[in-house]
Amino acid sequence: MKSTVHECKLIELPRIYDRRGSLTPIYGGEHIPFDIVRTYYLYDVPGGESRGGHAHRELQQLIVSVMGAFDVELDDGQEKRTFRLDRAYYGLYVPRQIWRELLNFSSGANCLVLASLPYDESEYLRDYDEFMEIKRQK
Ligand code: TYD
Repeated sequence: MKSTVHECKLIELPRIYDRRGSLTPIYGGEHIPFDIVRTYYLYDVPGGESRGGHAHRELQQLIVSVMGAFDVELDDGQEKRTFRLDRAYYGLYVPRQIWRELLNFSSGANCLVLASLPYDESEYLRDYDEFMEIKRQK
């Protein structure tokens, strides 16, 4: 099945707040539709910078702005959608084979990514033409 940008969605995460601040727990398979195998985060990103122009063959991910804001531009080869992430209790679910770019980072923004697979460079699609070829095939 071909994935589309319509499967990408904002997921509202649990938010436990009191006067000491807020806390958000995330369980793989419960709050998000995959088991969490890897977590990484982007930080020290200069204001206005962009990252992550690529897709993944099989990896699913949840992208969270735990601090600050940035845009996520999603492209399934036919349609594009852009989400602005600026709340620590919303995550953007991105299924396999969606080209994604993170844009317009505010200075000091922190981006948390929960991923369904270990890091594997051969699992990346970094060439847009190759990505389009795969989207055309299936
Ligand atoms: P990359 O995924 O290209 O970053 P972005 O798409 O956000 O610009 O990764 C940047 C570098 O970090 C690249 O050399 C691969 C390495 N890396 C790891 O070693 N482990 C990881 O889990 C990730 C996500 C990247």
